[in-house]
Amino acid sequence: MSTAKKSQDIRNITIKVLLAMKKKKIKIAMLTAYDYLTAKFLDDAGIDIILVGDSLSNVIQGNETTLPVTLDEMIYHTKIVRKAVKKALVVADMTFMSYQVGVTEAIINCGRVMKETGCDAIKMEGGAFIAETVRRLVEIGIPVMGHLGLLPQSINKFGSYKTRGIEKGEALQIYKDSKLLEKAGCFAIVLEKIPASLGTKISRELVIPTIGIGAGPGCDGQVLVSHDMLGMVEEFQPRFVRKYMSLAKDMKQAFREYILDIRNKKFPTKEESY
Ligand code: KIV
Repeated sequence: MSTAKKSQDIRNITIKVLLAMKKKKIKIAMLTAYDYLTAKFLDDAGIDIILVGDSLSNVIQGNETTLPVTLDEMIYHTKIVRKAVKKALVVADMTFMSYQVGVTEAIINCGRVMKETGCDAIKMEGGAFIAETVRRLVEIGIPVMGHLGLLPQSINKFGSYKTRGIEKGEALQIYKDSKLLEKAGCFAIVLEKIPASLGTKISRELVIPTIGIGAGPGCDGQVLVSHDMLGMVEEFQPRFVRKYMSLAKDMKQAFREYILDIRNKKFPTKEESY
């Protein structure tokens, strides 16, 4: 059976389905959305997971980092995305400082996101320091997607968005953290900007799926920020982003043509009037 046929057979993505996909070696496709129409197009196209990422801080709000976006803003966008999605798994990112203070506060905030948005799961960044939080959340019925490697919420600690896990000690830490998160109950882990060899090793050893972003082809799935793969963010050109469109260029061209049509009295025509 072809991979296309196999993935067509899998509808209404659940955590169980994702695990089965890994077992059957069907690669998982994940992209971000923050608004109704994008989420609808992704779902119609057959995406497996839609992430309402805290990258909304960068691509929607124009901030330099993911730190400023608030939990209320995340809830607002996840609610909108949820309305559009019928089949994909909807995952909401937990924002900076909404889960780091302690287990109790994390439970309250994650519970709020699940309850108010109707999302299927939440995602949080970090290794050992969130393991107990993950364990408690999963115990009470909140599915957690982990996130290791480059952690954008820790940009001020690391000072750069460079590849993580090149140095042996850091690679070992990421590897150990992946095992810890699986043991704590994560149903999947995002691996961001690490060497492909490390992505492959972790993916081979874990039962749960890994979703790579700049972590090589050995991961069980891939994620990109939709605005990046559509070519909407011209300044951001990392190696791991494959651009499927040049939407920034095309949008600017359309806007220029519209302005010219108005200046030259070419729009609206009689046919476009009442
Ligand atoms: O916020 C986000 O979009 C993410 C992805 C890059 C994985 O965390």
